[in-house]
Amino acid sequence: MMNLYRQHIFPYLLDKVSRKLDADRQRILPYLRGDVLELGAGTGVNFSFYSQQINSLIALEPEPALLLMAAQQRSSLEAKQAGRFYLIQGDGHHLPLASNSLDVVLCCLVLCSVSDPQQALLEIYRVLKPGGTLVVFEHVRSEHVFTRACQQLVNPLWKPLACGCHLQRHTFQYIEEAGFTTDKLETYRHQALPALVGTVLEGVAFKPF
Ligand SMILES: C[S@@+](CC[C@H](N)C(=O)[O-])C[C@H]1O[C@@H](n2cnc3c(N)ncnc32)[C@H](O)[C@@H]1O
Repeated sequence: MMNLYRQHIFPYLLDKVSRKLDADRQRILPYLRGDVLELGAGTGVNFSFYSQQINSLIALEPEPALLLMAAQQRSSLEAKQAGRFYLIQGDGHHLPLASNSLDVVLCCLVLCSVSDPQQALLEIYRVLKPGGTLVVFEHVRSEHVFTRACQQLVNPLWKPLACGCHLQRHTFQYIEEAGFTTDKLETYRHQALPALVGTVLEGVAFKPF
């Protein structure tokens, strides 16, 4: 039953819900350049927002059903752009990529879902070049006591329904602990999202030279 949900229902729901964030994707993605890794690319919902000026995109995703949708999404792009996009089935805790090889890593609503965000961030740090950029758009633990209590209450039910998504991640702290500079990261209340997932951490963090 859970397999049926994971393979057929969740990918469809994810695609529907994620489309609500198109304005955010439009604000963030067109400015990425160079060799980019998108961690947990899901259904490929971000693909159409990348500039033609990126050099390459590695879209890493562990779930076969989502990767299939990402492949369909890639095939809807112009051939030249599609040719720069590489889809990899893989796990963000053990990136199959060389150290110091990438200009940018995008984490868009994925550090909530990996089981060990600290390990994933160590891997991201490893694969980025010195001076490389981690681009973040993540929902995190609320700053308000009442919402935090609700997150705590709902989390055990939410996690299996949202395929591992965790409502109370301390993502800013994890990014800092991994060694990134964090002064260009901001936490705010996103008005288009429900309160449970409405505290968003957005911005860029750098791997020092
Ligand atoms: C909420 S979805 C976000 C999808 C997409 N990034 C977006 O912007 O809508 C979370 C994604 O993280 C992926 N994920 C979960 N665990 C992961 C891991 N260990 N490594 C990489 N991706 C993972 C999920 O399969 C899913 O595609």
